[in-house]
Amino acid sequence: MALCLTSHEETMLSGRNGPGVQMAMRIVVRMAEVLEVSELLPITQAHIDGCALMSDSSLEFAEKLASSGARVSVPTTLNMIPLDLQNWKKQGVPAEFGHKASRIADAYIKMNCIPTWTCAPYQGFLTPSFGQQIAWGESNAIIYANSVIGARTNRYADFMDICAAITGRVPKQGLHLKENRRGQVLIRLMGIDPGLFAEDTFYPVLGYLVGKRIQDRIPVIEGLDTFANSDQLKALGAAAASSGGIGLFHIIGLTPEAPTLEDAFQGSEPDEIVEFGMNDLLKAMDELSHDAGEGDALDAVVLGCPHFSYTEFQALTEIIHKTGGTLPSGVRLIILTNQLSMALLERGGLKDFITKFGAEIILDTCVFHSPIVSAGAEVIMTNSGKCAYYAPGELNTRVVFGNLEECIHSAMRGKVTRLEGAWKSL
Ligand code: F3S
Repeated sequence: MALCLTSHEETMLSGRNGPGVQMAMRIVVRMAEVLEVSELLPITQAHIDGCALMSDSSLEFAEKLASSGARVSVPTTLNMIPLDLQNWKKQGVPAEFGHKASRIADAYIKMNCIPTWTCAPYQGFLTPSFGQQIAWGESNAIIYANSVIGARTNRYADFMDICAAITGRVPKQGLHLKENRRGQVLIRLMGIDPGLFAEDTFYPVLGYLVGKRIQDRIPVIEGLDTFANSDQLKALGAAAASSGGIGLFHIIGLTPEAPTLEDAFQGSEPDEIVEFGMNDLLKAMDELSHDAGEGDALDAVVLGCPHFSYTEFQALTEIIHKTGGTLPSGVRLIILTNQLSMALLERGGLKDFITKFGAEIILDTCVFHSPIVSAGAEVIMTNSGKCAYYAPGELNTRVVFGNLEECIHSAMRGKVTRLEGAWKSL
């Protein structure tokens, strides 16, 4: 299928707007040819994951674009960077790695990207609107933008994300088109104790189960008859986009493209119907812990995957107030977050309280891209389905999944501690 370009797109491809724009346009055009689409689609916002410094080529690519005069043509936020830019020297990050990470940050800023450095850009930075065509990287941000907001993006990979931001164009296909956003698999929640819907851990567990079972198709969840807040849906999506390749989910009565089953399936029948009951959820809950459990000595608790919001910090503060005391030495409480949450913490007077308790608040980065968790750590605990899923492979640790209260109680005792709650009473 021949690709038709507008005169503006032809101009970008010709090099008349500079070699950086030409290079980005060549990549977008090549991608469109590989996908066999006939035209490009304008986008009006981007989020870049390519600033993660996955290899030297990430740095070379960004610096080449920046030095060739390429600048983003749409508002563009940046995902986490591989170190805490303010504190990396104090944290013992190797100097060579630190300097390369600083260089990649400079390159993206030079291209006029907004230095948000967060994997949760949808919580307070540049939240897109319903139906807006965008080009986002980072799986948890993509699934949130598509599902919870109803903006439209494919799962853009590193390099392609910045090329879309520079040209303002993507191949016209996939989740950008309404017909491709139709639900494919109906998931019926059957016999779930409604008390579980109030448990924050219900959402990452459900997300993990959905991703594992549905893989990269579009699930439609029926039976979640409750309000779920932004942090809960963030956790659901992050887990579903980790155990599977899901870029969009619908929840009947909750997400904007699914007021009814008919809307979610766009008037057609589901390709498949799957039922999830309590046993499936309990098994999924167990699977999120790997080779560790109650009573095991704990090295670190990791929170904020995706980045902790101000409301999550408020919940943490309440738990610390109840717990009292300070963390014992030897157990680290690592909280990943962004500058916005930090500014609010300072303004809300919570930062000193949380750090005096012994927590380490890490800005702008991620435990899987920066050497934050000590090399010798054996057991970590987290309330994040995404972190629990990746930790054994990426951090080479054993991992325990639990709710926020269990994480804090465990950190205080230095060993994994389960509490009575909705899951344990089942
Ligand atoms: Fe964010 Fe890293 Fe988790 S990028 S979503 S903290 S894996």
